[in-house]
Amino acid sequence: MERMIKIIEEPYPIYLGEINVDDFERFQQIIKAFSQVIILTDENTSRHCLPKLMKITAFRSAKVVELKSGENSKSIHKAIEIWEMFTHLNLDRNSLIVNLGGGVITDFGGFIANLFKRGLHYINIPTTLLSMVDAAIGGKTGVNFKGFKNQLGVFADPEVIFIDPSFLESLPKRELIVGYAEIIKHALIMDAALWELIIRTLPEKIIENTEIIKRAVFVKSNIVNADPYEKDIRKILNFGHTIAHAIESYSLSNDKSPILHGEAVAIGIICETYISVKMNGLNEIQANSIYKYIRFLFIHYPIDSQIIPYLLDIIKQDKKNKNGRLNFTLLTEIGKSVIDIDCDDKLITESIEFYSKFR
Ligand SMILES: NC(=O)c1ccc[n+]([C@@H]2O[C@H](COP(=O)([O-])OP(=O)(O)OC[C@H]3O[C@@H](n4cnc5c(N)ncnc54)[C@H](O)[C@@H]3O)[C@@H](O)[C@H]2O)c1
Repeated sequence: MERMIKIIEEPYPIYLGEINVDDFERFQQIIKAFSQVIILTDENTSRHCLPKLMKITAFRSAKVVELKSGENSKSIHKAIEIWEMFTHLNLDRNSLIVNLGGGVITDFGGFIANLFKRGLHYINIPTTLLSMVDAAIGGKTGVNFKGFKNQLGVFADPEVIFIDPSFLESLPKRELIVGYAEIIKHALIMDAALWELIIRTLPEKIIENTEIIKRAVFVKSNIVNADPYEKDIRKILNFGHTIAHAIESYSLSNDKSPILHGEAVAIGIICETYISVKMNGLNEIQANSIYKYIRFLFIHYPIDSQIIPYLLDIIKQDKKNKNGRLNFTLLTEIGKSVIDIDCDDKLITESIEFYSKFR
């Protein structure tokens, strides 16, 4: 794999490529500016990713804080526990938190860094595909609260992001595929050429051929830079997510093995593509190619029609709604989308039924 190079300059640098011991100088420059360094990991990234980071001398004196893997760690209780530890360690505002992990670690680590003493510095080293192309970029940080995803959070940018696709080698296949859901979304809303690239490439090839990751990072980064606080254009990133969040919340509270975020996004993309055909003139041929590709990549999640009213209730509580409007992002064609489209219960219901029958 290629050596690490800077692919984005502003508002903070994003590097892509393999972290190498020769990058010692770059890391040393960053680390030496801080009084204390904490590396936040989970049990899997401690095992699979931390050893590579520890080959770089600059990180060896850092304190490692390991969380249990999984969404449950993204909680205010865990945050309080870590802030107690930070207080005990006497961390000052010139301390650095290094988030080494998937979206759970980058969301949680950014949140705890930014609330402690009104803000410590943090950097993201994403280790799942989903976090490389999405969660680590854009400064949205947060924890879940009272059963609601990301209910507490702040916007705060990292100092720098290092994306090393070789971390994906140890990632379970199911986790790699869920990252694809966000890449598909990025392509559908803004980059038709990325869509063409995706449908011609096997997900496993993404580790050697980093072009897909690079283009997906450009999409996310261009959008969040244009609208950091989600007043306007950033809402296009919500394509697929309005319905996905409802399904994910339902699954988290009702299933023994809940579906993963990206799996819910894949369902949301199908439903919201269906709505795009009905409301926005997306052509059926393009819609069919989206359905076909998602069916090829993702397992089917059965949704009983009896739970649809429950899903509609959750959709109505979505924090992106305004004045009772649901504010969907829909496609007009592959690579183009529009924001702030209200949609009635009947069409949402129809779209979920369409997904359920679709195998
Ligand atoms: N802030 C944002 O803009 C944003 C965007 C999208 C998603 N998110 C959040 O991201 C989270 C989901 O992120 P995720 O899918 O990365 O999940 P995750 O962080 O839970 O990681 C998935 C699993 O993979 C393991 N893992 C991570 N890297 C590994 C590696 N290299 N090798 C082996 N195992 C590894 C983890 O321990 C975990 O078990 C959700 O909480 C979601 O809300 C945030």
